[in-house]
Formats: sequence, structure tokens, C-alpha cells
Amino acid sequence: MQKMIETIDLTFKYKNEDGKEDLCALNKINLTINKGEFVAIIGPNGSGKSTLAKHMNALLLPSSGKMFVKGMDTAKEENLWNIRQSAGMVFQNPDNQIVATIVEEDVAFGPENLGIPPKEIRKRVDDCLKAVNMEEFKKNAPHLLSGGQKQRVAIAGILAMKPECIILDEPTAMLDPSGRREVIDTIKKLNREEGITIVLITHYMEEAVDADRVIVMENGNIVLSGTPKEVFQRVKELKNIGLDVPQMTELAYELRKEGIDVAADTLTIDEMVVQLCQ
Ligand SMILES: Nc1ncnc2c1ncn2[C@@H]1O[C@H](COP(=O)(O)OP(=O)(O)O)[C@@H](O)[C@H]1O
Ligand SMILES: [Mg+2]
Repeated sequence: MQKMIETIDLTFKYKNEDGKEDLCALNKINLTINKGEFVAIIGPNGSGKSTLAKHMNALLLPSSGKMFVKGMDTAKEENLWNIRQSAGMVFQNPDNQIVATIVEEDVAFGPENLGIPPKEIRKRVDDCLKAVNMEEFKKNAPHLLSGGQKQRVAIAGILAMKPECIILDEPTAMLDPSGRREVIDTIKKLNREEGITIVLITHYMEEAVDADRVIVMENGNIVLSGTPKEVFQRVKELKNIGLDVPQMTELAYELRKEGIDVAADTLTIDEMVVQLCQ
């Protein structure tokens, strides 16, 4: 299986004002994400999630250790262009990511900068707006869209550069529930139908439930990693570091404490219903 992201003892320290190295934001992280995987990263505030994400497209470079994107060392400047094209980033605030006054122009911005021929750009813009279900808004002004719609335009803008991997750093944090749903459905579809590798950083546990793998960070370390079922049934450990678990996992945990026999790794309402109706 092809490796999309690989870190070897990845360590990063921010520098404080006097140029001295500050605390360890990432502490010898070893992580491999394969092509086509959907990985969710969770962890309390300040655990190093954004710092890790920024290493994945060379916005930050390791203090020590290695970060590879598709086998390319991010510390080598000659790889920068290919890395940024392979791994696109989507951030929390869609307003900071929109650069044009018309949706289709915004989506065209990335491929224009890559020097893609106009005809191909036209096609990419249409395809990408379709992929995020925003084609009917292509002539609209982005600032008049809802948060969820804006974030989908931002995703289309990244998609138009044909990345193999998209890293999303709390892309739903500023959205209402319906906007969150739209964005998460879009991300899942891109993973399933286009085979795009997804790294989703989120503080909504429900958004991690459908990932192939969940990684839990705390204080610059990976403290848990596994399938959503493996990770979320560790209710006590997650709560100890200040994280929630999906609602149904929490309910299963409480029911089990009362001696009711449901599986500890229950994640969804459907799974809970099946067990309670037996
Ligand atoms: N620009 C910065 N300068 C100095 N320290 C920072 C900077 N950004 C983040 N940090 C520190 O690095 C650690 C990890 O932060 P971050 O990666 O943003 O965590 P998360 O995204 O999980 O909330 C925290 O202790 C944070 O205070
Ligand atoms: Mg963050």
C-alpha cells in the first residue's frame, strides 16, 4: 500500500520571542497514513493537532525527525511545490480562504496559479463545484453564502488543484449543524468516490465515527490510535484527557454500568436500537 503521509520521530518546538525554543508541540510522532485512508485526529486544545497538520503540507518544518508526503521529504525545498499540490489544506474559517468575489473565480484561483490551461480550468471548476454540490451557485458572491456553503467552495478550490490528500483542520468548527453535515458528507464522498486521502481534525466526536482510523493526541503525543470502535470504547481514558465520546458510546457506557448488556463499542443509533430491541 502506498504511503501518503509518514512521520519518523517528528518533533517540533515553537520558538518564543527571544528566539529560544519553547515547549515541545510535537514529541517524536511516528505516524503513517496510507493513500485512500480516512483518518480522524482528535485531542484537547493545545495537543498539537494543528501543528501536525501544518507539517503535512510543509507550512512548518520539523525541529528534528522527518516528515514525508508521498515519500517526499518536506525539509527539502525542491519538494515544496509537489508537496503543496499533493496535500491541500482546508482551515477552520472559510472567510479567510475565499479570495474572489464570484464562486467560480474563487475555485479557479488555485489552478490558475498552477498555470493550468483555461479550458482545463473551466472543466475542473465545473467538476469540483459539482463534487461539493455547489454547481448552482457558481455565479454567486461567496460572502452571501452560508458557512457550510462557503466551506464547500473552499474545498472545491482545493480539489481544483487535484490533490491526492486533503487535510482539514476543524473545518466545521464555525458552522451550524446543517453546515457541518454538508461539509462532512462532502468529505466522505470525496474519500469514497474519488479515493482522496482525508485527514480530518475535529473536536466533534460524531465526525470521527465513520473514519477508517482515529488518532488521539495529547501534549504533543499520539496516545491512542485504532478503529473508531477500538478508540471510542476507551471512555474513561478519553474523558480523563478532557474528550467526549460519541453519544451512543456514552449511553452504552452508562447502560453497562447499570448492568445492561450492550456492546461497549456501540457507536451509532442504529447499532444501539438493534441491541435494545433484541
Ligand atoms: N505560533 C505559536 N507559537 C508558539 N506556540 C504555539 C504556536 N501555535 C501553537 N503553539 C503551542 O503549541 C502547542 C500545540 O498547539 P496546536 O498545534 O495549535 O494544538 P491544537 O491544534 O491541538 O489545539 C500548544 O501548546 C500551543 O500553545
Ligand atoms: Mg488547532
